[in-house]
Amino acid sequence: MKRKIVSVLVCAAMVATMAVGCGSSSTDTSSDAAATTEDAAAEEDAAATEDAAATDDAAAADGDVITVGFAQVGHESDWRTASTQSCQDVFSAENGYDLQFVDCDNDSAVQLEAVRGFIEQQVDYIIIDPIVTTGWDMVLTECEDAGIPVIVIDRTIEDSDKYVAWVGTDSKAEGLAAGEWLKAYAEAKDISELNILVIEGTTGASAQIGRTEGFNEIAEREGWNIIDSQTGDFTQEGGQTVMESYCKSYEGQFNVVVCQNDNEAFGAMDAMTAAGVSYGVDGDVILISFDGCRAALEYAMDGQINAVIECNPMAAPIVEEVIQALEAGEEPVAEQYVPGSYFTGDDSVTSIEVNGEAKEMTIVTPELLETRPF
Ligand code: AHR
Repeated sequence: MKRKIVSVLVCAAMVATMAVGCGSSSTDTSSDAAATTEDAAAEEDAAATEDAAATDDAAAADGDVITVGFAQVGHESDWRTASTQSCQDVFSAENGYDLQFVDCDNDSAVQLEAVRGFIEQQVDYIIIDPIVTTGWDMVLTECEDAGIPVIVIDRTIEDSDKYVAWVGTDSKAEGLAAGEWLKAYAEAKDISELNILVIEGTTGASAQIGRTEGFNEIAEREGWNIIDSQTGDFTQEGGQTVMESYCKSYEGQFNVVVCQNDNEAFGAMDAMTAAGVSYGVDGDVILISFDGCRAALEYAMDGQINAVIECNPMAAPIVEEVIQALEAGEEPVAEQYVPGSYFTGDDSVTSIEVNGEAKEMTIVTPELLETRPF
């Protein structure tokens, strides 16, 4: 769309230049001829002005904008709301974008249809946050055939490489971080036996796969007992339902709960409270969460969640850099990580090592919460 407007502008400029040229050649002729020439020049000037006005109207209506289709996972969590907001802020009309947004409600069939809809609309770019890692190659081939660059954000795609760039976080490193923090915390508190319940995210999502792989790697290395691991679908309701059943099935048998996102942790907290199970810094159960939305950090500051491993949802500014590189005809960076931090409410563990790299545990303070962007 942008390209069409550029050519209209070039044509308008050519018409205007031709009009100026005719006007200047008329000055050496007789007065009648001059009058005729002036009339013709005036007509051409008017035509050029009309063309320019039409061009302005077109630009205002549609024109100098970049159309971006975004097939978002859904609205299952606070993190997701922050991710959507980040995209809406960056790909706004004021910034020169027309954002076509589809909330796929955690349904892979809806997400594939959304992408096909964007192809029909002939959008300039497609952003996909893939609900699950597989089932992508056919539709990405269709995008490629239509000449529409695809940018994948947050979660990964495993069965196709037909996209120009990926921007997101390292889910496996997040799982490793949760495990390394737990190891250090258990040592600091002299807890020798860890009996763990896990509430996983949406099955088949790279965030679920990576966090599970990373955490299990440490659990195996340390010989911890993972009693059970079930999906809560990254929702508060799912977390609560799974935790209610865990509290009944494993009463008195667990001392760690790992929730693969904040909302599941909120649901698990409600279920444990209802079942009379204490959790957090002063409780019987160590509670770990992923994401780092403001509400979870408040719970960490109050000691109700022991540790929060951040998954940063602010990918959109980096995605815009990818789009701007493509607009400039440059090769975009193929893979970019959005940096994340690790949070806690106390100083029992001040740093951990993840993938051979020392990482600080950030203590949540009211000042930190004041500037928290999500
Ligand atoms: O893919 C990122 C995950 O999806 C976040 O952890 C979770 O909150 C979201 O629903």
